[in-house]
Amino acid sequence: MKHTDIRELFAHPEQYVDQSVVICGWVRTARDSKNIAFIEVNDGTAFNNIQLIIDKSKLAEESIKDAMVVGSSLTATGRFITSERNGYEIDTESITLLGKCPQDYPLQKKRHTLEFLRTIPHLRVRTRYFEAVFAVRDQLSHAIHNYFHQHGYRYIHAPIITGSDCEGAGEMFRVTTQPWNAQYETEEAYCADDFFGKKAGLTVSAQLEGEMAAMGLGRIYTFGPTFRAEHSNTTRHAAEFWHIEPEVCFADINDIIEIAEDFIKSIIRDVMANCPTELEFFNQWVEKGLLDKLSRVVETDFGRVTYTEAVEILQKCGKDFKYPVEWGSDLQTEHEKYLTEEYFKKPLFVVDYPAAIKSFYMKQNPDGKTVAATDLLVPGIGEIIGCSEREADYDRLVAAMEARNMPLESYTEYLDTRKYGSVPHSGFGLGFDRMLMYITGVSNIRDTLLFPRTVGSL
Ligand code: 4AD
Ligand code: MG
Repeated sequence: MKHTDIRELFAHPEQYVDQSVVICGWVRTARDSKNIAFIEVNDGTAFNNIQLIIDKSKLAEESIKDAMVVGSSLTATGRFITSERNGYEIDTESITLLGKCPQDYPLQKKRHTLEFLRTIPHLRVRTRYFEAVFAVRDQLSHAIHNYFHQHGYRYIHAPIITGSDCEGAGEMFRVTTQPWNAQYETEEAYCADDFFGKKAGLTVSAQLEGEMAAMGLGRIYTFGPTFRAEHSNTTRHAAEFWHIEPEVCFADINDIIEIAEDFIKSIIRDVMANCPTELEFFNQWVEKGLLDKLSRVVETDFGRVTYTEAVEILQKCGKDFKYPVEWGSDLQTEHEKYLTEEYFKKPLFVVDYPAAIKSFYMKQNPDGKTVAATDLLVPGIGEIIGCSEREADYDRLVAAMEARNMPLESYTEYLDTRKYGSVPHSGFGLGFDRMLMYITGVSNIRDTLLFPRTVGSL
């Protein structure tokens, strides 16, 4: 259909003022008075609606009536004019209804709760809130690709179906075409008859494939979906989330921390420059002070503390935590919140975690107890990045895997990277949806995804 995007009208109004234009869209609101009707239309290309002014004496009553129904779709022709109240409007000459919208349309004028909107994910994209979320989601994706492209990283596509579990936390979804058959005596025998001839699952992280690619390409990143069957029913966990995982050769833990900080600041700056209207909306309706927060984040140095120091701070702070703090146990959300929100009051890298609570691939520190790993914690969310220097020494890596009872035969290719020209290298994983929460102030990961998949909900 020949028409002009509403975004284009708002972006270059001087080219359209006093000209006849054709627009398409969905009716967001409609108001009627004796002689004039007002219809606000949105086509998804612009955050703001365009208002159609309708002189009721000029148009057939029937066409106006159907077009005044919220949710219906139409195309309209008219003169694009400046207006004192709205900036720009369309002095309507004709309206053609594209699709009627019956009265049971769930998105009537009033504001709906996010909980209600979660029950209609297929329709909630028609609200301002989700339009803003998806505009920022899109810009943030581009910002990430741009950053890596400009810094000489190769974008690689790692497999989604995999036979190895990167994080070893037992959170893999199985991939199978085998109907259940109780005649098999062992799981191995059962899996041997399956599609791949062995046990397969959906990736929990592209890191292992990323490391292998980096060993030839130098600097790579992946940006794809990741799947975790975690039974964590929280506002920060999704069973399917988007994951950015750069892997950098010839980089130690300090190098990768520097890269991670520069990367986070750059992508925030990019979204601030390219989505001012949407961020303004979030600042007003979702997180008061969001714009100040983001401006501060891109200007201040992130904090840094060792896990051991963090434990001391938590033990001395006098707070009554639900979970006890002791060296060797993982930091709980309440601990992370205290550190980043109350103590440091800014994004914080916690470094050198105990080896026993982290993954097998992390570089073992000389103290024999900790690994060169860091989590980036941010106020309001907690962990958004998991990062480490990788163990580059073949024997030490094998020992760490054996200590975890890992099946070495599933990792022979990975181990080859340490056998044939091993190099120091580091990488991190950023949870894309959590990053989007941080930039927009949206407080539930379910409201950052088009169709969120969480435990018990598909
Ligand atoms: O800390 P994680 O488990 O680290 C890894 O997977 C490493 N292999 C990354 C790497 O070094 N290449 O996960 C990384 C990030 C977390 O910090 C978090 O932001 C996000 O992924 N994440 C989730 N986001 C949403 N829902 C979940 N269930 C998530 N689990 C992890
Ligand atoms: Mg982690």
